[in-house]
Amino acid sequence: MNTKITRMLGIKYPIVLSGMTGISTPELVAAVCNAGGLGILATGDLSPDSLRESIRKIRELTNKPFGANVPLLIPGADEKAHVLFEEKVPVVNYSLGKGDWICQKVHEYGGKAIATVVNLRHAQAAERDGADALIVTGHEAAAHGGEAASLVLVPSIADSVGIPVIAAGGFGDGRGLAAALALGADAIAMGTRFMNTLESPVHSAVKEVSCVKTVHDTLYSDKVDGIPCRVMQSKGATRLIKGRFILIRALWTSRAAAKSYGLPWLKLAAGILLLAVAKGIGKAVALARLANAWGPMQQGMEYGDTENGVLMLGQVTGLIEDTPAVAQLMERIVSQARECSAALAEKV
Ligand SMILES: Cc1cc2nc3c(=O)[nH]c(=O)nc-3n(C[C@H](O)[C@H](O)[C@H](O)COP(=O)(O)O)c2cc1C
Repeated sequence: MNTKITRMLGIKYPIVLSGMTGISTPELVAAVCNAGGLGILATGDLSPDSLRESIRKIRELTNKPFGANVPLLIPGADEKAHVLFEEKVPVVNYSLGKGDWICQKVHEYGGKAIATVVNLRHAQAAERDGADALIVTGHEAAAHGGEAASLVLVPSIADSVGIPVIAAGGFGDGRGLAAALALGADAIAMGTRFMNTLESPVHSAVKEVSCVKTVHDTLYSDKVDGIPCRVMQSKGATRLIKGRFILIRALWTSRAAAKSYGLPWLKLAAGILLLAVAKGIGKAVALARLANAWGPMQQGMEYGDTENGVLMLGQVTGLIEDTPAVAQLMERIVSQARECSAALAEKV
């Protein structure tokens, strides 16, 4: 296939693995790269040292280009970004913050910077900041998709910027790939679909549940982790959303989160309190919700408790019925996209 993104990144297929915490591991990243796409390593739960090890592991498993994602909102993001620069990671994908400094550093060593955005204003700002491409995430997505659905968000942004767009949110098969290309995107990024593959490290109970859930079985709320977020409907999700005493609970829950981020707990707790003073209670509550969500998400994704845990899941789960190997999935998507566009040419 031949799009602006395949040419820019030197990949065979315009298919990207989204950075998913605990799931987009070196093994899954390398599997996607070796199958012709771009794998993006999730760095959310990695300390700077384990991040460096993960990058080296990817390089042992593939000689293809790969990426790594830094959510800028998460404490310790700057330190992780500097590891990516030192290791000269070919593609740095940033989200949830202003990334002009990331674009500058990545360009210095000849890498590419991709910003993840959920609305037009942020897309235009990222282009001004120097991003080489955008991942545009629609409402259907697992986790932090935007308010607008991909069907309208992708063309509206593709029409308004001069850099290539990678459509995310709701893509899981060849029909979706063909549709995204028709909407003006130059690639798709998939989270939920890649989460349910043989190489994905997620608990098998999560893969099984994603084969049976329908497009109606997720919910979207800003009370899950402080930013509008889509998760599977479950008792655990309802409990988290209705939870009270958010800030007080976070003093406790931030211990586990701090450990995972490789940060001293006091630094994280003090960060939440300082945010309350500097930016208002709303921002601090949002960060506190992030800390409170850590345990239930681990319970869901890592331990496979699909009832009491919290599972990030996109609406595309309703189109997923199997657990293929990554290479098999990607070949299937590409051949379905080709069939689809041939059939479409006849209809149109
Ligand atoms: C299990 C899971 C974990 C995720 N973790 C993160 C994350 O840590 N950071 C992030 O920015 N997005 C995360 N996402 C969202 C994906 O990066 C991506 O935006 C989304 O999955 C795309 O929509 P789709 O699920 O419809 O393919 C996660 C998604 C899933 C399914």
